[in-house]
Amino acid sequence: MTAMPPADAPERPASFPAAYYRHSPNTYSNAGFELGRKLFHDPLLSVNNTVSCASCHKQEFAFSDGGVSFSKGINGQTGKRNAPAIFNMAWNTSFMWDGGVNNLEVMPLAPLTNPAEMGETIKHIVYKLNRAPEYPALFKNVFHRDSIDDQQMFWALAQYMSNLVSAHSKYDRVMAGEEKFTQEEQDGYALFKTNCASCHKEPLFTDYSFQNNGIDATFADSGRYRVTQNAVDIGKFKVPALRNVAVTYPYMHDGRFATLNEVLKHYTSGVIPSSTLSDKLIKNGKPGLALTNEEQSKVIAFLHTLTDSTLINNSNYKQ
Ligand code: HEC
Ligand code: HEC
Repeated sequence: MTAMPPADAPERPASFPAAYYRHSPNTYSNAGFELGRKLFHDPLLSVNNTVSCASCHKQEFAFSDGGVSFSKGINGQTGKRNAPAIFNMAWNTSFMWDGGVNNLEVMPLAPLTNPAEMGETIKHIVYKLNRAPEYPALFKNVFHRDSIDDQQMFWALAQYMSNLVSAHSKYDRVMAGEEKFTQEEQDGYALFKTNCASCHKEPLFTDYSFQNNGIDATFADSGRYRVTQNAVDIGKFKVPALRNVAVTYPYMHDGRFATLNEVLKHYTSGVIPSSTLSDKLIKNGKPGLALTNEEQSKVIAFLHTLTDSTLINNSNYKQ
């Protein structure tokens, strides 16, 4: 029997390593999580009250912007990167495709103030929250202070995001001995372990490193280099977690691939050589992984076992 966490404790699956995010001094409570959930879904946080975090991070797509390469912010404006899925954020060591943000508690600053996303100022959001009919009492109940400030807002959002946990897929049930893979999924899992897991590491399906996986040689977006200004980082992006990958299309930092089929074609016949290409994607002196069409289908069958319907349907995660 699995022990239930005590009330007001964040979910931390036993099969996962220790979380990177510490709820200290931002003490976790269910009321804090619910307040963060309300803020995450509230367009009040944008300059013209039209866009919320959930406009681009939708639960039915594992909190990515399913089907959309470049999400729409205020006044229909678009950026240049694909909105990543949001789950298991407590294990993330950095945020954004280039790792430009290193703390979950300051992460919302970027979308809130980006003129193409929510376009607000922190000062004005705090003003609006203090004047809203329902927020002062909700904040006071969680943080026990007389007025709302920006730190309380960031803490509440962090309590919500760090507890969107995805650990209940078929893969997890198979690993726990509760279910079995089909033969095709089992073969796909074996192929995944030899070809993909060196970067997409179990059980979170990322090692949180920055890699060039060969989708470019000209680098319109220089990726990690924007943060480090070190030439060895040109064209490297954060290895994305592949849990729920069947519902987080389109793929890559710019949403260039619409399907998992296209992704597998890329890894087998589309890898572009460049000075920063990962040597894990060079086999027998040639760029690309050697997987037959049948093997590619098996890997895709395995990837589908990573879909976690309890994340996508969890009514506690919905506003
Ligand atoms: C207009 C669309 C849009 C809105 C609104 C938006 N985001 Fe995002 N979000 C993105 C995009 C695009 C990225 C990737 C940006 C990059 O890598 O440069 C991102 C990245 C993130 C990440 C990093 C995830 C990771 O794995 O690195 C988090 C966390 C996040 N957003 C939370 C939020 C929160 C909280 C809000 C509301 C305060 C919000 N977002 C509002 C589009 C949006
Ligand atoms: C050298 C490390 C590395 C290896 C090996 C690797 N990947 Fe990736 N993968 C990445 C990186 C980095 C990205 C993001 C690249 C970008 O967006 O520019 C990525 C992106 C993806 C995506 C898109 C996810 C999303 O949310 O957009 C999928 C799917 C994927 N990889 C599957 C695989 C599969 C399947 C294999 C094995 C056949 C594999 N990868 C092998 C590093 C790797």
